[in-house]
Amino acid sequence: MATIQEATRPPHRLDDVPGWFPVLDQLLFEWFLNRQEAGGTHGDLLEVGVYMGKSAIFIGRHQQPGEKYTVCDLFEGDAPDDANRAESTKSYSALTRRVFEDNYRSFHDELPRVLQGPSSLVPDEVAVRSCRFVHIDASHLYEHVHDDIGAAHDLLLPDGIVVLDDFRSEHTPGVSIAAWEAVLNRGLHPICLSTQKLYGTWGDPEPVQEALLAMARERSDCHLSVQEAAGHRIVRLKSKGMSGPAFPPSKHAVAAEASVPAPAAVPAPAPEPEPDPAPAARPARPSPRRGSRVRRVAVDLLPPVVTRAIRKARAARS
Ligand SMILES: C[S@@+](CC[C@H](N)C(=O)[O-])C[C@H]1O[C@@H](n2cnc3c(N)ncnc32)[C@H](O)[C@@H]1O
Repeated sequence: MATIQEATRPPHRLDDVPGWFPVLDQLLFEWFLNRQEAGGTHGDLLEVGVYMGKSAIFIGRHQQPGEKYTVCDLFEGDAPDDANRAESTKSYSALTRRVFEDNYRSFHDELPRVLQGPSSLVPDEVAVRSCRFVHIDASHLYEHVHDDIGAAHDLLLPDGIVVLDDFRSEHTPGVSIAAWEAVLNRGLHPICLSTQKLYGTWGDPEPVQEALLAMARERSDCHLSVQEAAGHRIVRLKSKGMSGPAFPPSKHAVAAEASVPAPAAVPAPAPEPEPDPAPAARPARPSPRRGSRVRRVAVDLLPPVVTRAIRKARAARS
């Protein structure tokens, strides 16, 4: 996880973008979105609460042709009430829309549709029953989360997936109450719980839960527990030293590769630590060897014409 200070330097890797998006959730987002795409599910994407773009950038890779991707955040704008203003001032004072958009453009050519303002804007801006995946990660106050969940219910396609962040963090009781209220009184079926997020659907949870259980049982880096509660099957997943899914480096990493000589052989890198939930936590700096892997991946992902130019420049240097 990157520090706020490092945010002034353009991100080279997704890990350089400050935010809260643990590797287990990266794996689960990838799994849910890939499964929808493999199954031919077509629908729009929505994230409410983007901060500096960590999870938004990740989701953006899954936008398929013809699909709309909308994000909503207050950014530096005013919050709709005092309690919301207090949480924004306390936790997100470094945030501007510009920072989000610059980070996003570091990894993608096109911005999503950006709604600047409170999440109460969303129901008027996103079509009913249009979304296949909704990530709710904005205010932690009960009234806001209750309404964000109501909006997700209306905007999702019948088997769409909603992800509720911070449904059980110590400092977010309002999210917990809104999340479990949705399960007990508003027809939401939990699919699984990660350490920070509840994944649910208003469709039939069984097929997706069965597929998820099969995937998790195959992995040695994932603790799995299954419990029954109030008539719901609760699948709980926990990372056991998991690594996140591969994510392509940013355009800045690619540009740096094109102009900086590759380093000489160096010792093997230390294993990567798991991301810390606080954005102020300092990440392990990538070792030179990891940097060269990023460059290799970057070169592999570039259009052939650019790749040829880089290889030619390298050959000329050696
Ligand atoms: C926890 S952060 C989002 C983290 C982000 N998804 C990530 O991956 O790092 C919460 C975000 O919600 C935004 N926010 C807070 N209250 C909001 C509201 N009422 N409407 C829209 N966004 C809000 C904040 O500005 C902040 O950027």
